[in-house]
Amino acid sequence: MEHTRVTLVLAADQAGVSEAARLLRAGRLVAFPTETVYGLGAHALNPAAVAGIFAAKGRPANDPLIVHLADADMLKVVARELSPQVALLAERFWPGPLTLIVPKTSAVPASVTAGLDNVAVRVPAHPVARALLRQAGVPVAAPSANLFSRPSPTRAEHVLEDLQGRIDAVLDGGATSIGLESTIVDLVGFRLLRPGGVPLEEIEAVLGRPLAPPEEWSQPPTNRLAQQLAPGLLPTHYAPRTPFVLVLGESRDSRARLLAEVTAATAAGQRVGVLALQEDAAEFPAGTVVEVVGTWEDPAASASRIFDALRSLDRCGLDVMYARTLAPPASGLGRALADRLRRAAVRQIGDP
Ligand code: TXA
Ligand code: MG
Repeated sequence: MEHTRVTLVLAADQAGVSEAARLLRAGRLVAFPTETVYGLGAHALNPAAVAGIFAAKGRPANDPLIVHLADADMLKVVARELSPQVALLAERFWPGPLTLIVPKTSAVPASVTAGLDNVAVRVPAHPVARALLRQAGVPVAAPSANLFSRPSPTRAEHVLEDLQGRIDAVLDGGATSIGLESTIVDLVGFRLLRPGGVPLEEIEAVLGRPLAPPEEWSQPPTNRLAQQLAPGLLPTHYAPRTPFVLVLGESRDSRARLLAEVTAATAAGQRVGVLALQEDAAEFPAGTVVEVVGTWEDPAASASRIFDALRSLDRCGLDVMYARTLAPPASGLGRALADRLRRAAVRQIGDP
């Protein structure tokens, strides 16, 4: 398939949003900001438009898409057998960074769900996304607006870096606030499919029951199962092109190990980049390219910067890049940060 169209960059004002809504209704591909990352949208009930998403991203057809809705009232168009748990979670977390897997209606084309009987749905909170969805008046299927397996886009520039000439338009709403994708909860199997913008603990508190994270599933996700359930679970995803090494461990140990690794690589003549916590930034040898994210105590700052920082380092022509665990990995946003770092890494060292 050829990708030779001109990609319009639309301002996120009234005129831009109505043009974007018109394009979506007409079956075209439009990237737009959400509070998590930019999505690549298409009319979810139009199979030709949905096919365009897979072609533009180079995404395998067995990787299902999240359907975005203007509000929870639109659920009935795409979802059936709505359980009390859906209502509870929607009430508490929508609009916001939570995606729910629920049984689908026949209105949803099989290509959206990769043939599964369940559909992923979410009501985003970003004002531009909300205005766009309201004006489009249709459910909008939207994966992250990156080429398949590249880091997710948190700025319109990232979308253009990957998809210029392959999509019809991007609505430029500036940098996204959360910077990591939504949390995905399977309400059919009561499992966490992907940690994300809403902490797992908060969801479990509302449901009054635990949700097994992937590492605790009784059947460990083999690649094939993971691919069917949520390809975001594949071991490598979000990957930069430069080899990326992750140093695991709690704060003090991982800091010393990271410094030792960077020092050794630099001494061996390699050009080294680091995705660094603010408290570590001054420690690296001269010549190290340092992208500061947040602090150990402030995972939200690291979350909002992580994909932008990975992409920036990736453009520097480095031989290798490093990071250490950025926040307590077992709770809150730290869980999602740890997950994305692991998936971006070609190698992990240190104690888990
Ligand atoms: O924050 C987000 O969720 C962003 C913004 C744009 O909303 N979207 C996003 O979409 O991250 P994507 O396609 O990059 O990741 C969605 C994940 C995929 O791993 C996909 O396999 C999983 O959701 N998924 C979608 N539909 C599913 C379904 N019916 N059953 C299980 N997993 C599903
Ligand atoms: Mg994605």
